[in-house]
Amino acid sequence: ALSRRGMLLGGAAAGAGFAALTACTPRPDEQLEDALLDVGSDTVPFFGEHQAGIATKPQAFATFAALTLRDDADADAIRRMLQVLTDDASRLTQGRGALADTEPELAVTPARLTVTLGFGPALVRRVAGASAVPTWLKPLPAFGIDELEDRWTGGDLLLHVAADDQVTVAHAVRMLLKTARATAVPTWRQSGFRRSRGSEEPGTTMRNLFGQVDGTVNLRPGDDDFASGVWSEEGWLKGGTSCVLRRIRMDLDGWDRLDTPGRDQAMGRRQSDGAPLTGEHEFDEPDFEAMGPHGFPVIPDFSHIARARGDDPRPTMLRRSYNYDDDTVGARDGEITDAGLLFLAYQRDVDEGFVPVQRRLDELDLLNQWTTPVGSAVFAIPPGCQEGGFIGDTLF
Ligand code: HEM
Repeated sequence: ALSRRGMLLGGAAAGAGFAALTACTPRPDEQLEDALLDVGSDTVPFFGEHQAGIATKPQAFATFAALTLRDDADADAIRRMLQVLTDDASRLTQGRGALADTEPELAVTPARLTVTLGFGPALVRRVAGASAVPTWLKPLPAFGIDELEDRWTGGDLLLHVAADDQVTVAHAVRMLLKTARATAVPTWRQSGFRRSRGSEEPGTTMRNLFGQVDGTVNLRPGDDDFASGVWSEEGWLKGGTSCVLRRIRMDLDGWDRLDTPGRDQAMGRRQSDGAPLTGEHEFDEPDFEAMGPHGFPVIPDFSHIARARGDDPRPTMLRRSYNYDDDTVGARDGEITDAGLLFLAYQRDVDEGFVPVQRRLDELDLLNQWTTPVGSAVFAIPPGCQEGGFIGDTLF
């Protein structure tokens, strides 16, 4: 940082004269500092029709923590927990310490912090009985490609905590887990990342650790089909949605051995710029009918995008994934990394949005050769709440 500021200052001083510059415009290092402060002080409203953290532009860091309800946690205990979690989240996301915050100093940098709660089937059943559980709120069907591990699978309560600052995320997660611990115990925790805020142009589609532009064909907040594709209209879940979290290991060592044409064929898009193999730019419509000189489709039938897309080209889910790159504990013999995607999909109905796509990819997708689902969880994401209410209050 020092050398960058030094360079900025040096360049400006040489061009304009340092004294004159400081008299009329902020010095470049002050501009840099202002920009940094904006990143830290930015907030996302907590209360509203929908929970924040879904239509929110993805923050740089996210932690997903799943908890299991204690055996003696009844509906009253769950209500109390949700009330305090809501209170904690409403404060922390606005840059204030939680009520019982032991380190309120860490809360003053909200950095667009959002806290999104999700419910597994057991929580819904315990509060409101089996009839309140949406038909899709259950473990996904078993897929042939799955190598699921218990340590990344299932859960009764999901805490999805995200911000543009990792310290903020760590502090908020700890506060929320402390609040929940009388009622629910942590079962797994997974953290992921994207580019830091300010590293690239706002609106740039993220890249995953294979290097691919990932998220081009997607439901986009503000588009006509976003609300109908994502937000539920059903009963207590009206204004909420569903969340599928798949931990998908990516074999970076195997991917290393694949050349660029091989990589592009597996995806049906170019790694360099994300354009379909039949187009020039990222957002060009792929032409699945186009034939190459040898009579084969330019976008192979076995490619990921050919298989992911059904007969109807409209997206059926909001994909909002995060990269993970953990230490080598989970890596297989001889591999350097344990990396992949925390694949997140939000849709009003899992059986209509996610499952048909995953079935097609399970049957055939060249990308499966380098990707393996190792964790899986499904949650109902209740709607947002107004001040005085709490997340999940429509269930009680
Ligand atoms: C498209 C990567 C798993 C559904 C894409 C694209 C990339 C990609 C690079 C092209 C750009 C884009 O439109 O976003 C990956 C990787 C995966 C993975 C690396 C695993 C590690 C999945 C899973 C699903 C899925 C599990 C759903 C079950 C889709 C869909 C599209 C897509 C629906 C858009 C297809 C279209 O053009 O209509 N994926 N993906 N992907 N992926 Fe995946």
